[in-house]
Amino acid sequence: MRTQVGIIGSGPAGLLLAHLLNKQGIESVIVERQSREHVEARIRAGVLEQGTVNLLREVGVHARMECEGLPHDGFALAFAGRQERIDMRAQTGKGVMVYGQTEVTRDLIAARLAAGGVIHFEAPALAVEDFASKQPRIIYEKNGQRHELTCDFVVACDGYHGIGRKSIGEDKLNLYEKLYPFGWLGILADVPPVDEELIYANHARGFALCSMRSHTRSRYYVQCALDDKVENWTDDAFWDELRRRLPPETAERLITGPRLEMSIAPLRSFVTEPMRAGQLLLAGDAAHIVPPTGAKGLNLAASDVYYAAQALTAFYAENRHDLLDAYSQTCLRRVWKAVRFSWWFTGLMHKFDNDPISHRLQVAELDYIASSNAARTSMAENYVGLPF
Ligand code: APR
Ligand code: PHB
Repeated sequence: MRTQVGIIGSGPAGLLLAHLLNKQGIESVIVERQSREHVEARIRAGVLEQGTVNLLREVGVHARMECEGLPHDGFALAFAGRQERIDMRAQTGKGVMVYGQTEVTRDLIAARLAAGGVIHFEAPALAVEDFASKQPRIIYEKNGQRHELTCDFVVACDGYHGIGRKSIGEDKLNLYEKLYPFGWLGILADVPPVDEELIYANHARGFALCSMRSHTRSRYYVQCALDDKVENWTDDAFWDELRRRLPPETAERLITGPRLEMSIAPLRSFVTEPMRAGQLLLAGDAAHIVPPTGAKGLNLAASDVYYAAQALTAFYAENRHDLLDAYSQTCLRRVWKAVRFSWWFTGLMHKFDNDPISHRLQVAELDYIASSNAARTSMAENYVGLPF
């Protein structure tokens, strides 16, 4: 088989890239390890920056988001028994769209297939070969058979555990990693959200987050120990712990119910440099991971594939190599700023040790942010997303 751009991974990065390329008349094929059902069942974060919303509109996969998505102009910081709103719209002129990544993925898959796009599900890529040549190949398996997809370019959108980085050879890459000494225990429940906007809570017991998927479905998280297990938590134990970490008047409003899903996610910061080797590009989680505190993961995947599509379009339309040569540097400039913000926000909101001064310093910084227009603007412009 042959195509212009071979894409590994049918997550947000791979799917959005295929749509962006298709809009420019560039042919692509996606190979995806999992089944469509598995991909579409993943519970992930739910905050889209304006840049990501714009890309979904650009590729015409925005109808359900416009209808079901929740535009948000602010979020709250809860600390020391109080709640302070960060008005993103007032500070930056922009907001975010609350719309689950699960829904984004479902919309992108449906639209791609409806347009005749090729997505091979249950087709794990085993390796990328000859990416230093002009004819790189994706070796993948389908129905027990080994296949080769010859391409002009390969874009590995295969996440942190994919084969893209491994095909380059991690010894040929500069890898930067920070592991956090805790995880996030998340619950999804069909209960109305406790507030109309998200609440990020700093508490001496640990971090908590109140988020949502709709007016009737909520997503909550509490910081937990790295070695904690979902089976250690009843629904009631989760709700009790969440209440303890929220300001009293917010906790009183909390409506609880049975879990639809409960899971624990580890937190890490991870960056790969460079994000290109010959005709092989890395994009999204394949190249970088951020702690979910700043809701940057999906949005960095979007800016990566925006740059990749620009570079590939310039190549095919004008035989230009400049944007391809600048791809890694262009992506990483934005990636590192988002990694920095996510690291900072995680440090501000989570319990790292039992030293009383640590929590006092965090409360002092939160009190400063609440009382400083400059600090609120800085936080807001990073949260809504820095320009692509
Ligand atoms: N062959 C084919 N597909 C693969 C392989 C492989 N060897 N390895 C991984 N995949 C697939 C995974 O099954 C997944 O569907 O690649 C896809 C990667 O998708 P994501 O992990 O969602 O990564 P990305 O598209 O970059 O989106 C980043 O997703 O996980 C969240 O928090 C993350 O919000 C961020 C967003
Ligand atoms: C979510 O809704 O899952 C979510 C929202 C904001 C975050 C992280 C996760 O920062």
